[in-house]
Amino acid sequence: MLRKTTLIAAFVGLALGAALAPGALAATTQAPLKEVSWSFEGPFGKFDQAQLQRGYKVYHDVCSTCHSMNLLSYRNLADKGGPFYKEGVNPNESPYAKAIAKDFMVPDIDTDTGEAITRPATPSDHFKAPFANEYAAKAANGGSAPPDLSLMAKAREGGPSYIYSVLTGFTAPPAGLTVAPGKYYNPYFAGDLTSFWNGAANQVPPGGTISMPPPLKPNLVAFDDGTKATVSEEAWDVAAFLAWAAEPHQEERKQTGFAVLIYLFIFAGVLYASYRQIWSKIDH
Ligand code: HEC
Repeated sequence: MLRKTTLIAAFVGLALGAALAPGALAATTQAPLKEVSWSFEGPFGKFDQAQLQRGYKVYHDVCSTCHSMNLLSYRNLADKGGPFYKEGVNPNESPYAKAIAKDFMVPDIDTDTGEAITRPATPSDHFKAPFANEYAAKAANGGSAPPDLSLMAKAREGGPSYIYSVLTGFTAPPAGLTVAPGKYYNPYFAGDLTSFWNGAANQVPPGGTISMPPPLKPNLVAFDDGTKATVSEEAWDVAAFLAWAAEPHQEERKQTGFAVLIYLFIFAGVLYASYRQIWSKIDH
């Protein structure tokens, strides 16, 4: 009996230790994310195509100088639900995808001579990465490689709202916080600033220091639809674009889910009717 209790106590201890340890070790903090409304939220939400086009433009003009999006091909931009989708147009033949792709030179092999060449990209090519490899990416960014953005909206809690908060959240560091050269204070970027803080121990500012310089400024891009390019608009649009890129089939998934629910509802009705029918002739 005693042994059993000791064993249980040991297990509980272990479980508690395991549950508490990560929290105790990594005291990272982060300001609560900004509240942003998204057209694609909720069970009937849809991506706003004009917003996705603006978001692609922000990625293309600004973010793509540092960040790759390796999982996307140019033709994906013209996929159903995508920024340049047009009904009845095969994404590989999309004039938009072709026009966007041809401005990028990609490596290839000359099939006549076997020599390495570069040629203009086609819709089936993957997005061209800004750096040749991880080392080059690190070297150009003070030692921190800019992460690939293909799945960023899925990889962080809050998804697009997180991206929006980080992009619009850069502020001057509070007095008492030492920020290393090449780093920027951002309250939404999870970090632990305790050892860089020389104010009161219970007032360590939330967030961390990030190796990304604030990338957005007003009018950094000229939107084709005339939308005013404020920092908040640019951040909102690029975050929506990244949400689409990370889950391009979100709309279809929601539609299927809804159809399944209707089917189950009707099916339940039919089942109930047949149950009444079957049992109506039997005494019970
Ligand atoms: C000058 C290069 C540069 C540009 C331009 C740039 N970034 Fe970054 N970005 C970085 C670097 C470097 C990091 C890694 C920061 C770190 O880990 O400290 C980063 C990190 C990020 C992160 C990840 C934060 C996290 O939680 O890990 C996101 C999201 C991001 N960038 C989005 C963007 C978007 C969107 C744009 C365009 C509006 C953009 N970046 C433009 C260099 C850049």
